[in-house]
Amino acid sequence: MFIKNRQNWHISENDVTPERLYLNRRSFIGGGAGAAILGASGFAPGVLATPKRQLEELNFTKTAFDPDETLTPYDAVTSYNNYYEFGTGKSDPAEHAWRLQPKPWSVKVEGHVARPGIYDFEDLINMNALEERIYRLRCVEAWSMVIPWIGVPLSSLIKMFEPTSDAKYVAFETLEDKQQMPGVKSFFNVLDWPYREGLRMDEAMNDLAFIAVGLYGKELPNQNGAPLRLVVPWKYGFKSIKSIVRLNFVADQPKTSWKKSAPDEYGFYSNVNPNVDHPRWSQKQERRIGEFGRRETLMFNGYEEEVTHLYAGMNLRKSF
Ligand code: MTE
Repeated sequence: MFIKNRQNWHISENDVTPERLYLNRRSFIGGGAGAAILGASGFAPGVLATPKRQLEELNFTKTAFDPDETLTPYDAVTSYNNYYEFGTGKSDPAEHAWRLQPKPWSVKVEGHVARPGIYDFEDLINMNALEERIYRLRCVEAWSMVIPWIGVPLSSLIKMFEPTSDAKYVAFETLEDKQQMPGVKSFFNVLDWPYREGLRMDEAMNDLAFIAVGLYGKELPNQNGAPLRLVVPWKYGFKSIKSIVRLNFVADQPKTSWKKSAPDEYGFYSNVNPNVDHPRWSQKQERRIGEFGRRETLMFNGYEEEVTHLYAGMNLRKSF
């Protein structure tokens, strides 16, 4: 992204407080490597002036979507964020997103669908059919996390609206509200609001594409995109649009925020691809939050088997 905010992630073991549920699931980073486990830096999570929303526990079914890698601690997942509507610093969303009111919430659905309308969150998300999927999320800024998301497949939502054959793409928009989002009223506007993203219909219907309403067993914290956000694990993190208020089923490729803002740097597809450098930095490696050193970035973020067919015959250097 434009504003690079490099933080070093080292904290004491006391700061590592993942949910009870997850503590025993895997060995964290064992033994003497404990000091390698991160947490917030540059600010202390304990002193954030954040009136926190009480997050409800969710019931969910575990699925086989699990890379079996060490989970990124809850504190890191919820305090090192990109959500420019609340500021461009990594700690800004955790500090300011308490202003967001995720309840009640509705989503406008329009375009080439048989069932357009304004849907309440409760009508969109079947809270009795939530799944947990552990996905890697690889940010374009070359860091990554492994997060236990709770939600529903995007395809299950899309089917409810009965798209017609004219729907070739789905366009998403985030809430734009100056009262709740200090970044939106900021004089220094990095992006043209509302934040916009899009997927081709076959990408959106792929089983990996997910609408998250929670993480680590609880409702989504505001800074992670409450009450519902997209998670597209084979694409750079900026495709995973937060706090969605609009879905538009369209015939032509929709405009997306980062592509509009810097078309030479950010494309519509934004597939994680170690072979195509960002013009200002390499995408070959990444820093997994919580680890020392760097690891190799995998094609499609390691989800090659599930998504390669979507791009058969495409030149991914041109369609980046
Ligand atoms: N959605 C909105 N509305 N605004 C944003 O600034 N940032 C994106 C994406 N979704 C962003 C957004 C980027 S760049 C990333 S890497 C992910 O959210 C980060 O998600 P996380 O903070 O939950 O890790």
